[in-house]
Amino acid sequence: MRIDIISLFPEMFDGPFGHSIIKRAREAGLLIVNIINPRDFAYDKHRIVDDYPFGGGSGMVMKPEPLYRAVESAKTAVESNKRRIILMCPGGEVFTQHKARELAAYDHLILVCGHYEGVDERIRQYVVDEAVSIGDYVLTGGELPAMVVTDAVARMIPGVLGASDAAVHDSFYSGLLEYPQYTRPREFNGWEVPEVLLSGDHAKIERWRRKQSLKRTLERRPDLLASCVLSEEDAKLLAE
Ligand code: ADE
Repeated sequence: MRIDIISLFPEMFDGPFGHSIIKRAREAGLLIVNIINPRDFAYDKHRIVDDYPFGGGSGMVMKPEPLYRAVESAKTAVESNKRRIILMCPGGEVFTQHKARELAAYDHLILVCGHYEGVDERIRQYVVDEAVSIGDYVLTGGELPAMVVTDAVARMIPGVLGASDAAVHDSFYSGLLEYPQYTRPREFNGWEVPEVLLSGDHAKIERWRRKQSLKRTLERRPDLLASCVLSEEDAKLLAE
């Protein structure tokens, strides 16, 4: 998969994709991340990328032409009919694990990072396929959201995670929160690892984990349970 990120602050991306799993994915050729600065597509003398809003008001608005040209240039990078162009914007659809999985099916993503007071509406209307928000709060720009989306999507690409089934146990994958994990030592500061995990009884361990996932979800995120299909066994575990 190729991800082109259109940002006025390319230096912000110098670090985050150079470590751990994402670094390995890039080295293995599973993921290409490319940053494009829309200022390079502003052709006036001062390379202006923003302007005052029509109708007045505070703040500046990102001009449409440099963004449009930057998106067009990204499109030429890959011949694809499985491309999605996304505006990072607090007013977009809220990003979820489900959305990450959906986006991982494309082979080219173009993420447009907004800044200032916003982006000329014609970009949203005519250039991008959709707008995505990473949560109900306002950040200073779309760069951090683009990093979040890139990370979450990249780990859903087949082959990116080491153990082939690692994503299957993720929080949210099954619609439930993840069960608690423990490692050595068995006892630390008097705090003990649950006995069942040391039992070697795999069926019992699976049952315990499922119950923990269900209980946690009920306690912390009951909204998730509402859209989850539970078995009879699940209902029994919850009632225990
Ligand atoms: N830009 C500013 N805030 C944002 C958010 N919460 N999600 C996506 N893009 C944004």
